Amino acid sequence: MSIKITWYGHSTLALEIDDHKIIVDPYFTDNPAATVSAGEVGADYILVTHGHFDHIGDAASIAKRTGALVISNFEISQWLEKQGVQRVHGQHIGGGHKHPFGYLKLTPALHGSGLPDGSNGGNPVGFLLTTNDGTRIYIVGDTGLFSDMRLIGQDGIDLAFVPIGDNFTMGPDDAYKAVEMIKPGAVIPTHYNTWELIAQDANSWAERVSKLGVKVHVLKPGESLAFK
Ligand code: NI
Ligand code: MN
Repeated sequence: MSIKITWYGHSTLALEIDDHKIIVDPYFTDNPAATVSAGEVGADYILVTHGHFDHIGDAASIAKRTGALVISNFEISQWLEKQGVQRVHGQHIGGGHKHPFGYLKLTPALHGSGLPDGSNGGNPVGFLLTTNDGTRIYIVGDTGLFSDMRLIGQDGIDLAFVPIGDNFTMGPDDAYKAVEMIKPGAVIPTHYNTWELIAQDANSWAERVSKLGVKVHVLKPGESLAFK
């Protein structure tokens, strides 16, 4: 199995798992960090953690153009259907489903999820993905620190995506504590440097976290990593 990861800045990711292409929180248009435009991105699946514009951003337009299946919480999946997205799959916190790329479970997040037009976007989520070869990837999502991260980490996490930007999500100190609880094999910091308000020094954070024995990958926007 091969797993390739690309970070497009902010929380926008591509996970290429064998021949399945998954885009997470597609925020390309108006994202100052993005290196590509929404119109050039391919996708088989789109995962959306919550309703804020910097996460749901281009989900509808990419889904309509590519025919990708959008996976999110139930409220957001219903809202996207009303926006004309043909293929949606609603799940909810604690619920997992076997998709072709692996078993995907929704995890809690401490945040908001209001949609851009003021509609109720349900509760924000993170994603816990177990690929078909047993690799476990935890996308924490926009969240504050919570101690159930320890529980989520108990079965072993190979790779975690953790926000470090502060102001809207965990900052570097709480993100450090999150890594201590999750105990992932590797971590990638997200949700920073998009705007001045969430500017952070990811390299100094990486230096601290690596002393926990966790491999930290600090990616540049547009940079890819062959994880497997
Ligand atoms: Ni948010
Ligand atoms: Mn956000």
